Amino acid sequence: MASNGSSSEDPRTDPDGAEQPTAYDLLGGETVVRRIVDRFYDLMDADPDFFGIRKMHPGDLSGSREKLFLFLCGWLGGPQYYIEKHGHPMLRARHLPYAIASPERDQWLVCMGRAMLDSGVEDAMMERLLQAFFTTADWMRNRDG
Ligand code: HEM
Repeated sequence: MASNGSSSEDPRTDPDGAEQPTAYDLLGGETVVRRIVDRFYDLMDADPDFFGIRKMHPGDLSGSREKLFLFLCGWLGGPQYYIEKHGHPMLRARHLPYAIASPERDQWLVCMGRAMLDSGVEDAMMERLLQAFFTTADWMRNRDG
């Protein structure tokens, strides 16, 4: 569909015709998403605080890094790489083999919060993303406690 960027039918445009930047754009795109994901798994690998969730992952984290990177690009409003490559994420179903209760959820969130901080994500964006991550991580819980 041809678009001059001002169609009121396009949900990405506001009444003035300006595109709303996505969280992906505001963060700095692929480079920053990659930086966050790499830091996230480096921390998970090194810090005993995250041992509980580290031991659920494979010894070699390169596949986990790649999948989370592809997924987060789309989740943040950028290119849907994960879906193009792997189809619908079915995230909750894919996490069912792992026992995830509140402590595991919280380890994941603290690890991601530190990764974003270390990657230079601004305060307002941190707050917005931590809330969104909380919703997704909480939905992944599949055990009591
Ligand atoms: C709540 C705590 C969580 C735990 C303990 C957890 C743990 C795991 C584990 C063990 C894997 C398998 C890794 C692998 O196969 O390499 C995985 C995969 C994955 N996780 Fe999580 N996860 C959590 C939350 C999240 C959240 C909040 C997101 C997204 C915002 C997420 C996104 C993914 C993705 C995209 C994959 C790859 C799925 C696939 O294609 O196999 N996870 N997770």
